[in-house]
Amino acid sequence: MDIKLWREILHPYEMAVDELTLKFNNIIKEYRTLGEYSPIEMVDGRVKKISSILEKCQKKGILLEEVCEKVDDIAGIRIICQFVEDIYKVVELINSRTDIRVVERKDYITNMKASGYRSYHMVIEYTIQTMKGPNVVKAEIQIRTLAMNFWATIEHSLQYKYRRNMPPHIRERLSAASAAIINLDAEMSRIRDEIMDSQNSFRIKANIITEILNLIQNLYKVANKREIIKIQDEFYRVYSHDDIIELEHFLTELDVLAEGYRAQGIEDQLI
Ligand code: GTP
Ligand code: MG
Repeated sequence: MDIKLWREILHPYEMAVDELTLKFNNIIKEYRTLGEYSPIEMVDGRVKKISSILEKCQKKGILLEEVCEKVDDIAGIRIICQFVEDIYKVVELINSRTDIRVVERKDYITNMKASGYRSYHMVIEYTIQTMKGPNVVKAEIQIRTLAMNFWATIEHSLQYKYRRNMPPHIRERLSAASAAIINLDAEMSRIRDEIMDSQNSFRIKANIITEILNLIQNLYKVANKREIIKIQDEFYRVYSHDDIIELEHFLTELDVLAEGYRAQGIEDQLI
């Protein structure tokens, strides 16, 4: 197959990866805009390299004209979650979408692979709209935690390094590392509430600080320099106490001050 033809074959998959990545990123945005915890931490997508497609076809005896039908992972999406429970929330989320049709699923979390590999896999069908009309393409979605991803990435590089001849002692150590990852994920789930609380208060604090700085920025236009310096010094003093309640209080006071200027501005305009 010449290069031009490959480009034509791969283009729909590129479109699918772009659209799916965007849609999953929008889910993250939607949660965060509502101030809620997102079960998706991050998303990554890729189209398989031609060399890897050829290698897979050779290994599995797939003819080149059967590539689209028989290679499920030309388009690949990886969804990373913080906690194991989030993975199943994402699975539900995908199940309920009308633009994604799940055609196959493998739960390598409850059924870990012999290598120690854990992830939830889905093969999906996704319709892209092309100049020539709708086109259904397959894509593989891998859903895993940050810890599972760490293990899979390291194990993949070692597999690549040793090809099919990984020394038994390396295999054993990877197996032990996989067991450690299971414990780590379980421990993180146990302290999940605590972690989520702290992430939440971090977000609240960041939002308050953004609002304060926006107000100070606006006051620059209307207040005199001495007053601005006083406000800024007060902000740094309050900020150094690292207390959300105190920051909230400062924001309210600043809001009242800004409101005063706003009212005065309107009055000036009326005169
Ligand atoms: P292939 O599609 O030929 O890979 O076989 P399959 O359909 O049985 O695929 P499977 O669901 O087992 O795996 C699909 C993908 O999951 C692979 O291409 C890898 O990205 C990943 N994967 C599966 N097993 C392992 C593993 O043991 N280690 C790592 N690092 N990744 C794995
Ligand atoms: Mg597969």
